[in-house]
Amino acid sequence: MTQFDQNPAFAAVAAAITERRTVKQFLPTPVAPDVIERLIELAVWAPNHRLNEPWRFYVLTGHACARLGEIAGAITAAKISAVGGEASVAARKGSEAAATWASVPTLVFITMVGDANPEVDLENYGAVCCAIQNFTLAAHVAGIGTSWSSGAVAASPDLLTLVGAGKNERMVGLIRVGYLDPAASPATSRRKPGVAFTRWIEQAPEPVPAPAL
Ligand SMILES: Cc1cc2nc3c(=O)[nH]c(=O)nc-3n(C[C@H](O)[C@H](O)[C@H](O)COP(=O)(O)O)c2cc1C
Repeated sequence: MTQFDQNPAFAAVAAAITERRTVKQFLPTPVAPDVIERLIELAVWAPNHRLNEPWRFYVLTGHACARLGEIAGAITAAKISAVGGEASVAARKGSEAAATWASVPTLVFITMVGDANPEVDLENYGAVCCAIQNFTLAAHVAGIGTSWSSGAVAASPDLLTLVGAGKNERMVGLIRVGYLDPAASPATSRRKPGVAFTRWIEQAPEPVPAPAL
């Protein structure tokens, strides 16, 4: 704790950061378009080197969610078949996965614009991750839960095709978005304290002598 924790603005930011949780269970109500647009408006204030603005947002609704469900169903069924699972099991699990994804109230697929220069590419990825964090923090404060998915469904080339992404775009996250279900048990998480990962370096190391030739 510091003197800043007495400052309500600091305390509000700290609370949003520490209390935001990954949420996968929502009320069925979709999040209104103006709310999603506002969250995206906040997302794009993320730091981004060279002001590349490397983020692209695709909000999936209606038939697009149903199509995403089909993609997810096919991926699940194929995984089960690949390990020798029975066709009936693959079909049933595939249908369950399809229904689960199709039932998410709102899905926001977020991609980055890749770059042939690895340095810029990494900067762009970092910037889009920051944008997603902005989005999820603002959503949390608005009583909206989110979860970041980067698994097989999010990474599916079919999803890039579904949204009509450009050839140089790559998935950064498929974000489930929905109003918190008060009946769901509150999500929990844990972190080791930041100090456990921190070293303060004062002394410069001795220069390594050049090898004798
Ligand atoms: C780049 C990235 C990818 C992630 N991908 C997934 C994922 O595919 N599935 C998932 O359940 N969670 C995913 N997460 C969420 C983390 O699992 C989650 O943040 C972590 O469990 C901590 O929980 P918390 O967000 O509630 O603090 C991802 C998070 C990040 C930053």
